[in-house]
Amino acid sequence: EPRSLALLAAAYAIGSVSGSLTLGKLRGIDIRTQGSGNAGGTNALRTQGARFALGVVAIDIGKGALAAWLALRYAPLNDGLSVTAHGYLAAFAAVLGHVWPVWHGFRGGKGVATLVGGLLVLWPFALPALLLAWGATLVLTGYVGLASVIGALCLPLLAWATDAGAPRLWFSVAAAALVVFTHRGNLARLRAGTESRFARARLLHR
Ligand code: G3P
Repeated sequence: EPRSLALLAAAYAIGSVSGSLTLGKLRGIDIRTQGSGNAGGTNALRTQGARFALGVVAIDIGKGALAAWLALRYAPLNDGLSVTAHGYLAAFAAVLGHVWPVWHGFRGGKGVATLVGGLLVLWPFALPALLLAWGATLVLTGYVGLASVIGALCLPLLAWATDAGAPRLWFSVAAAALVVFTHRGNLARLRAGTESRFARARLLHR
């Protein structure tokens, strides 16, 4: 069905609009040359400050939500896939766009904010639990990358525990695997003891 392919391509193209790289262009900087080198909200906060990072996260969440919403709205009904499946496929395509953006030389971010945007539309009830796991890890350790990995791993657990349907379960497994993959550098740095830490987030850990 051509409309299904068009929706996937649109989701990938939308996901490829990187918040940090687009706002960075307006500022004349490329955050891939600074801090962790990652084109995402965390490195935006680390290297450019809170206002810039807020804009980055708003764009990266917003595009994940937009891609999922467009798919739900315009999904064809005659291609054997459910509307829900279309939504999850589009959300995943948007995350792939964020990680490997066609507009930015295929070097993007790690996909966390875009994933959250997709879930905001497709499975908002999962977000409080994920945010709790993410926030607790961040406060206890100060490592955003570790918090993202743990939060992402909770997603398939949650899908399994709530007996979610096949599209949600497969999306959760694939998204968690992708987030672990995009954080492989963070995990290596954690093992080496060189991962950068947000001291102010480390409220309980001294
Ligand atoms: O979402 C990205 C975050 O989990 C890690 O970012 O810059 O510390 O690699 P960074």
